[in-house]
Amino acid sequence: MLEVSHLRKRFGEMVAVDDVSFTIDAGETFGLLGPNGAGKTTTISMICGLLEPDNGSVVVNGEPISVGRRSGRRHIGYVPQELAIYPDLSGRDNLRFFGRLYGLRGAAARSRIDEVLHVVGLSERGDDRAREYSGGMQRRLNIAAGMLHNPSLLILDEPTVGIDPQSRNAILEAVAALGRQGMSVLYTTHYMEEAERLCQRVAIMDHGQVRAVGTRRELIALVGEHDAVTVMVVSGAERAARALDTESGVVRASAADGQCIDCVVDDAAVMLPRLVTRLTDAGLAVQNVQVREPSLDAVFLHITGTGLRD
Ligand SMILES: Nc1ncnc2c1ncn2[C@@H]1O[C@H](COP(=O)(O)OP(=O)(O)O)[C@@H](O)[C@H]1O
Ligand SMILES: [Mg+2]
Repeated sequence: MLEVSHLRKRFGEMVAVDDVSFTIDAGETFGLLGPNGAGKTTTISMICGLLEPDNGSVVVNGEPISVGRRSGRRHIGYVPQELAIYPDLSGRDNLRFFGRLYGLRGAAARSRIDEVLHVVGLSERGDDRAREYSGGMQRRLNIAAGMLHNPSLLILDEPTVGIDPQSRNAILEAVAALGRQGMSVLYTTHYMEEAERLCQRVAIMDHGQVRAVGTRRELIALVGEHDAVTVMVVSGAERAARALDTESGVVRASAADGQCIDCVVDDAAVMLPRLVTRLTDAGLAVQNVQVREPSLDAVFLHITGTGLRD
């Protein structure tokens, strides 16, 4: 469905996307997971033909994509982070407008508009003006517009950032439903749990590079025979993480927030008492220690050396 080969883009001295390659199968929901600045938006801008790569190629449904060439783009539905809707028009009229751009008219347009409103959970609100929608509902209308022409590949750029929980849930459910219907989806996010919940395969992106690609199981296997441990201290998580990171038997340690340190260790049974002793010796009070199943969080930490947080 999508073949991305050796994409590269630099902005001045900064390499934003550095030799990125991956493929998405027909019907697959694929996650591009990485922190802010990883290069996700730049990558998908090149996939959509909105930005010329310095190197590399994109093929969608057998058709090459390039800036200024329209043909391949009809296979793609692109939902950017910024809203592209008219606040004074109703949801339905917005979609009618976008539908016309794709040559959708009359009864075909009406029934397709009903369908997409239903998918994003806005059936009841379709006749209200978009300016009366919450931010999350506007984002959902944006998604409806992106899938109006029934693309084979829907690309969503961090669709749940900064919106209310109800809309977030509606968006996650809509994406899951599209996946079940067989649409191919490229979903970018910096939220681990969204990638885990929605995507069959995930590419972990950091500093412009894809560092690993696979199913959740395959990625977790990369952590190998290691355990994931979260240590909670009363305060001083940053200092605690530095102390633990140099301890032998600790593969990685990184402060997650004010109080938590995520660690990947060789063997939790051996390491737990040593972690506690090390911190106590450093004058840090340990509040709680938990051994966890390795998750994509642990994978991210293992591969990049930093946690994935806002
Ligand atoms: N038009 C641009 N000009 C200069 N630098 C840019 C531009 N677009 C993105 N960048 C830089 O490229 C890097 C990757 O950005 P981006 O692709 O937006 O990451 P993400 O979407 O993963 O947050 C960032 O360091 C960003 O500041
Ligand atoms: Mg982005």
